[in-house]
Amino acid sequence: MKKLSILFFCVGVAAFSAEPQRIVVNTGESPESSMAVTFRFYEHVPAGKIQYLPNAEDVNLENRAETLNVLPDIVYTDMTRTVKHFACSVLLEGLEEDTEYAYRVGDGKDWSPWYTFRTAKKGFREFTMVYLGDPQWGYMTYLPRIYSAAMRTAPDAAFWYIAGDLVDYPYEDWQWDALFRGAREAFTRYPQIMAVGNHAYLWAYRDHRGELPPTWRPHLTQPENGPEGLEETCFYVDYQGVRFIVLNGNERLEDQAKWLKKVLEENPNRWTLAGIHQGFYPSGWERDYPEARRLFLPLMEKYGVSMVLQGHDHAYSRTFPLREGKIAGDPSEGISYVISNAGSKMYPINTRFGDLFEVVESADRQYFQTLSFHEDSLVYKSYTATGKCHDKYVLTK
Ligand SMILES: [Fe+2]
Ligand SMILES: [Fe+2]
Repeated sequence: MKKLSILFFCVGVAAFSAEPQRIVVNTGESPESSMAVTFRFYEHVPAGKIQYLPNAEDVNLENRAETLNVLPDIVYTDMTRTVKHFACSVLLEGLEEDTEYAYRVGDGKDWSPWYTFRTAKKGFREFTMVYLGDPQWGYMTYLPRIYSAAMRTAPDAAFWYIAGDLVDYPYEDWQWDALFRGAREAFTRYPQIMAVGNHAYLWAYRDHRGELPPTWRPHLTQPENGPEGLEETCFYVDYQGVRFIVLNGNERLEDQAKWLKKVLEENPNRWTLAGIHQGFYPSGWERDYPEARRLFLPLMEKYGVSMVLQGHDHAYSRTFPLREGKIAGDPSEGISYVISNAGSKMYPINTRFGDLFEVVESADRQYFQTLSFHEDSLVYKSYTATGKCHDKYVLTK
């Protein structure tokens, strides 16, 4: 949700007070100069506020910080109990590159702690990102240990990418609440890029099946550079010489394919990655998405996408580099497709693509991954919850 357009100065703050909740940093479209912060209140507040400035050692940050006021949007987040949500979303623009910013959010009386995020550098610069499969189950039980392991393994990660199904049922407000509580340290520190899963589309009411419910956009602030009507679910981010393209595997695939062609044709970056929730070569049950393969894969092959990062199957798999549905003769001409799983929901392997997998496993294990981009190589590693690296793949250009 991008709502910076509605800014105002609050005159005479009323006697309302509320603790800001569900704080998340998302990358802007140009993360060397733009980052977004989203938060919410349970109670009505006249204005949400954010204060931010380059981080410093002293304890007088509030005296020098820039303050922005945001009019909260009222959103009903629980379709069965009508829980109100006063949602605030701010896109911070004009930031300095390669700079750690301190920020806090609140209503002017109650504030969050000061958190920090870091902006990207311009041009191609080496960096490491974290990739996670579906959170979906275990928000306050098993997920926090995966987030901690990822933060220990890649403390300086540039951003995190989560491959969708953030929650199991988007109309149950407690799930969003638990997700954000369990992920607070990571969500407030590492700019997040999030794909939208099929579970984001599961409404309580039959009439709305197939539509994105009004809970996705108020919880996040993602780029709006995708096809019209698919804002914040289909978009791209250019991070230090890597174009990261996120597709929405749930609707309007043909429109996205037209958009994808343009985004790939006009791509000046050294590396290109894609993220989509539903796997092109699924490992779980007897799922298959031939339409998505037909529309997207020829374009990705033609324009040199290196890897596709996916979720949905609640197991772990990585294909050999593939081209036209077969193992590529020259690995650098192929695309590696990874499916991973972060939460505690587990599915068995039952796939028609067994020969294409270099690694496939379902052992009731959670995973996280790191991808490190260098000038001539991309180093991909997958880890278990204990921080053990169980799979590694190096792609050279
Ligand atoms: Fe899914
Ligand atoms: Fe899922």
